[in-house]
Amino acid sequence: MNILAIVSQKGGTGKSTLAFSLAVAAEEQDIRTSIIDMDPQGTTKKWYGRRESDGGPEVNALNATQLEPAMPLLRKQGIQLVIIDTPGADTPGVTAAIQVADLCLIPARPSVADIEASAPTVSAIHRLGKPFSYVLNQCPPGRSIRTMDAFRVLQLTGAVASTPLAMRADHMDALATGQGVTERDISSKAAAEIRELLKWTLNKMEGKPHGQKQTRVA
Ligand SMILES: Nc1ncnc2c1ncn2[C@@H]1O[C@H](COP(=O)(O)OP(=O)(O)OP(=O)(O)O)[C@@H](O)[C@H]1O
Ligand SMILES: [Mg+2]
Repeated sequence: MNILAIVSQKGGTGKSTLAFSLAVAAEEQDIRTSIIDMDPQGTTKKWYGRRESDGGPEVNALNATQLEPAMPLLRKQGIQLVIIDTPGADTPGVTAAIQVADLCLIPARPSVADIEASAPTVSAIHRLGKPFSYVLNQCPPGRSIRTMDAFRVLQLTGAVASTPLAMRADHMDALATGQGVTERDISSKAAAEIRELLKWTLNKMEGKPHGQKQTRVA
């Protein structure tokens, strides 16, 4: 069972959006996936409430003390991928999520503010000795100097997913309708980007090479 924590103490970077769309994309590939919502705001739990599809992923809201004991139970249920959505603040829930994670994904918009604001998150991840990777989100569609500059800056940290996600209305619509972008419109660009990010993330968690040669910026 792989455990992915999506973390950034900055609000609105796309943690919940990535959590549910990656989870839906994983289920579409027959990877049994469970989302844990650690955010009292409950964005992912509410998304689940709007969901009409019968299949997975399921979403459970847990607090910091409930998280670690829940992992063996999920494993026993045959869950293969756990995706933890965390609040955009420094809380015990975020620390607990990092502690159980095999990989932490830090969504950041291609802005100096987001990248600067991620420093405490990266410090917490370092302190707990966990691997992490940034993923650029809400980038201007198409080739953009801003995205490329942000990508190069994050590359210096040695950890940025090769697929930046563009700002696309599909993500907002998917949040509103309880869908993942891959089921909302299977042939959309947003869907393709999420599938590519899932592949990259799974490879990283499995320790497979995901060389920078494959890097594609917007
Ligand atoms: N790639 C994207 N394209 C368009 N809209 C996006 C994208 N990613 C996220 N959004 C939108 O940005 C808003 C914030 O996203 P989201 O709620 O996922 O962020 P968050 O990091 O979970 O926020 P919080 O810290 O408050 O939990 C939402 O309205 C979402 O639909
Ligand atoms: Mg959220």
